[in-house]
Amino acid sequence: MGYRIAVLRGDGIGPEVTAEAQKVLEAVAGRFQHGLHFEEAPVGGAALDTMGTPMADETLTLCQGSDAILLGAVGGPKWDDARTDLRPEQALFRLRKELNLFANIRPVMSYPMLVDKSPLRPEIVTGADIIFVRELTGGLYFGQPKKRWETPQGRRAVDSEEYSEHEIARVVRVACELARNRRRMVVSVDKFNALISSRLWRQVATEVAEEYPDVDLSHMLADTFSMQLIMNPTRFDVVVTTNMFGDIFTDEAAVLAGSMGLLPSASLSGLPTGRTLGLYEPIHGSAPDIAGEGIANPLAAILSAALLLRYSLDLEFEAQAIEVAVTSVLEDGYRTSDIYSEGTKRVTTQEMGDLIVAKIRAAKG
Ligand code: IPM
Ligand code: MG
Repeated sequence: MGYRIAVLRGDGIGPEVTAEAQKVLEAVAGRFQHGLHFEEAPVGGAALDTMGTPMADETLTLCQGSDAILLGAVGGPKWDDARTDLRPEQALFRLRKELNLFANIRPVMSYPMLVDKSPLRPEIVTGADIIFVRELTGGLYFGQPKKRWETPQGRRAVDSEEYSEHEIARVVRVACELARNRRRMVVSVDKFNALISSRLWRQVATEVAEEYPDVDLSHMLADTFSMQLIMNPTRFDVVVTTNMFGDIFTDEAAVLAGSMGLLPSASLSGLPTGRTLGLYEPIHGSAPDIAGEGIANPLAAILSAALLLRYSLDLEFEAQAIEVAVTSVLEDGYRTSDIYSEGTKRVTTQEMGDLIVAKIRAAKG
């Protein structure tokens, strides 16, 4: 008995931060007596180099047969050629689509001891605590037609913002379910005044919200939201939006936390209740410029491991053990370079992982 976890470390800092997340999961398994079985496979550029494809069929099969997938990051300058469509990122798209990971959950919060790391004023970011739910398998990323062709007037290309009622409803349900354990507020972000697909989005979101009378759903235009997010972030609880908007807003939201190195994510194939197959990865990329130096912040990967326990294994207590350990290590003053400030203790990627492991071993429960 036990749980099967596929580990896809990927490129750049992916391998080093994933190693720390796995170490922390092993500590949780030891502390709370769970059987976790890890199986590794190459992904992204690493897979392109060794297998000729960023996401091999056998890796997909491994993921499908697992309870959860832990991923590092993919991509790097080595594989950046605008002329070819064979890119490391395709691995992500294939995983998202073929595993039906339609709901991308990205929690963003401001840690009290790190407010000075945000470029925004402390009185603005203090208390910010938002969960983004980004639609992940539709919209501009996948809508048809999607192509590029030659015309007598020159080259043309098209991507399509396309959504079905079903795709909208299921991701809004995820947002409403999450809101039930929080402040029960959902803001749905669209571009209703300009896009037909957004009008459908808003209509379906409103209908779905009727299933959740205890949750307050409101709508906001994407341009207004982009401004409100940095002017008044504490007014938001759960935010649900399309694939493209979600990609943009979650990077913008990272400034609230002060570093990309702190932000985890979960991509789920169902509601966040019970046990759902999911993929867990830090939202930062592969950061090739600092790869291998031991200075990357592993906390985003470690916090992604907490989400893995919560949503795919239904181990809420264990998930919280990780989150409490992270807060506690930050309270003790330990910082990786990205969040270092004078008077705190600078540690390496591995040392940060060790500190979290030590906290978990000492946890009660
Ligand atoms: C993300 C990333 C990806 C996306 C890239 C790497 C294709 O930015 O997960 O947010 O756009 O979805
Ligand atoms: Mg992105």
